[in-house]
Amino acid sequence: MKHSYVSHLFCPKCDTRYTIEDKHQLCTCGSPLLVAYDMESLAGALNPAMLRDREPSLWRYRELLPVLHPEHVVTLGEGLTPLLPMPNIGADMQIPGLLMKDEGLLPTGSFKARGAAVGISKAKELGVTELAMPTNGNAGAAWALYAARAKMKSTVIMPIDAPLITRNECAISGSNLYLVNGLISDAGRIVADLVQSYGLYDASTLKEPYRIEGKKTMGLEIAEQLGWKLPDVILYPTGGGVGLIGIYKALKELQTLGWVQGKLPRLVAVQAEGCAPIVKAWDNQEKESQFWTASKTVAFGINVPKALGDFLVLEAVYATGGCAVSISDEELLQEQQRVAELEGAFVCPEGAATFAAARKLKQTGWIGENECVIALNTGAGIKYPDTVNVQVPVLQPGEWITR
Ligand SMILES: Cc1ncc(COP(=O)(O)O)c(C=O)c1O
Ligand SMILES: [Zn+2]
Repeated sequence: MKHSYVSHLFCPKCDTRYTIEDKHQLCTCGSPLLVAYDMESLAGALNPAMLRDREPSLWRYRELLPVLHPEHVVTLGEGLTPLLPMPNIGADMQIPGLLMKDEGLLPTGSFKARGAAVGISKAKELGVTELAMPTNGNAGAAWALYAARAKMKSTVIMPIDAPLITRNECAISGSNLYLVNGLISDAGRIVADLVQSYGLYDASTLKEPYRIEGKKTMGLEIAEQLGWKLPDVILYPTGGGVGLIGIYKALKELQTLGWVQGKLPRLVAVQAEGCAPIVKAWDNQEKESQFWTASKTVAFGINVPKALGDFLVLEAVYATGGCAVSISDEELLQEQQRVAELEGAFVCPEGAATFAAARKLKQTGWIGENECVIALNTGAGIKYPDTVNVQVPVLQPGEWITR
């Protein structure tokens, strides 16, 4: 059996095809490239039952991943995160069928490990020795650490305000780390210049085609964990939108294979009120977003003023009958606390936004009575200790507590 059924790259805008054996970044028309598989052969060679005894990592779906040879796989054991019932907060927001896909358990503490594992593995297969990327923190941390595992050099540029721990994760991996006194879009411009001047591999969001494939495995896992039945709604905290594009791609591939039936889940792009270009585009039923000026939110991972793949995010939202919702920082921080108090789960601010969005959409009736709803917690709350501001009483030795 082949390790992968990957076939070629294609441009979703102009349909140009590219080979899988060579390094490619964007299409000549400027669009991100997507990965295609030989679905006909794969449908004949693999069925869901064959996955049952495989390793509990995202590499269990290797046929639907782009790495041709097993020796190029770079792994820290990522994937197969829990899909947990959330009965208490579900009751609180009157969504009894609320589940959380908890990505906080992955290596490096966020779902970015998926994109990094697959992206770095494929980069290794393509002979890349040095890469550069801008990041809002978590992606840089993951790519720097996976690059170290692959013996690859990395240069990472992140906003000075990015969570401190992500800075430390990059630094300790031996990455060339730079901080920029600006936003991810400013970091992106510096990387573009670096790539052009020194010929480094550009691992920026969607400028290499393989990160989506790693993030796609969230969709594959959700389907497998639900016994190849699909939920009604998936809420995703959307910055660059790669995860949402990936989940949509995964579900369509499973449909093509005949492993899932019926309507696809309604995909919800959740953004912060301080940075909501996708929501604005969706409100106006537009196909692309506009640059969001002076963006600001505590949910740092979703502070992306203009995503290169915005048209793909919007396409996934429109095609599934989904929607786009924005949440204020105050609402998401309140929700973060509720999730911790009611479920014992310390979710990241971006993940908290998806719970707040579920609450809002249930209140408006957009989410129905008995729907199966998945909130994606994209990272561990412990990566953002500064989002919690509590006054804790301090006792002197010998002082007792009275109730
Ligand atoms: C915790 C977290 N959630 C969500 C996102 C947004 O990811 P995407 O680019 O897939 O929209 C990020 C990106 O940095 C993140 O770190
Ligand atoms: Zn093109």
